[in-house]
Amino acid sequence: MAKRIKIAKTVGELHKLLASAYGKKKIGYVPTMGALHDGHASLIKSSVTKCDITICSIFVNPTQFNDASDLDKYPRTLSADVKILEAAKCDIVFAPSVKDIYPKGTKSKLKLRLGKLDKVMEGEFRPGHFKGVAQVVKRLLDIVKPTMLFMGQKDFQQFTIIQHMINQLNIPTKLVVCPIKREQSGLAMSSRNVRLEKHIKSRADILHHTLLEARELLNLGYTPKQIESYAMKGFKITDFKPEYFRIVNGNTLLPVKNVKKEDYIVACAAVWAGDVRLIDNMILKHPQS
Ligand code: PAF
Repeated sequence: MAKRIKIAKTVGELHKLLASAYGKKKIGYVPTMGALHDGHASLIKSSVTKCDITICSIFVNPTQFNDASDLDKYPRTLSADVKILEAAKCDIVFAPSVKDIYPKGTKSKLKLRLGKLDKVMEGEFRPGHFKGVAQVVKRLLDIVKPTMLFMGQKDFQQFTIIQHMINQLNIPTKLVVCPIKREQSGLAMSSRNVRLEKHIKSRADILHHTLLEARELLNLGYTPKQIESYAMKGFKITDFKPEYFRIVNGNTLLPVKNVKKEDYIVACAAVWAGDVRLIDNMILKHPQS
């Protein structure tokens, strides 16, 4: 039988549950906005194998939504989430209120030097998004004080920015990035997938297939520019509307013109599938592989 998870609804309740663990146990932390799926469960499982205690937060952060209707439509499924967390052997779920996370209001005072990292790709199409993400992750790390933080590769730009924040602010937490979990069709798991209409979802594997093609084309010697325009054309099918397909350096997130042997190269894409915005990515080339 799955073990009973403890639920903390306030910072005070969480600290009470963690009081005896600080300084003695490895604390693993998975921040989420709920509507959990197997991708989240895999982050929890990774934390459970590496740490003594695993905490998952469920907090739909208002400051990272640049579109109010996206915030309203974001699925909220706490009781189903708790079941998934129990099955994955998570120890504590932290489900705070907006007031608990932002007792002094939602205006951010966090200053980070991110260069272009938060301006390209998602930053271009969702202005202010990463400011909100960095703000909430910093606040959550200050509250939870984990040994390890687990995030998914699915949000490539997000984890890259969080790693920069950890380095810049000397936060004593190790970021562990876990591989993308995919549905059988290849569609990357996302909380937003439940909103895809059936006839659209059945074709949403186009993202994954295009990323696989991009990897093949790069190996065949096509240039990033040629591949990007091929991918963008391919995405223009009924019900789908691409925002970007970029081939970028995996560290700087800047466009790559000519591919060199030692390059770390990632393809990142964002596509509207009906009224659901999907993102996906694939590491096309890694210097260590
Ligand atoms: O990836 C997410 O679900 C969110 O951006 C995060 C990291 C939980 C911050 O709100």
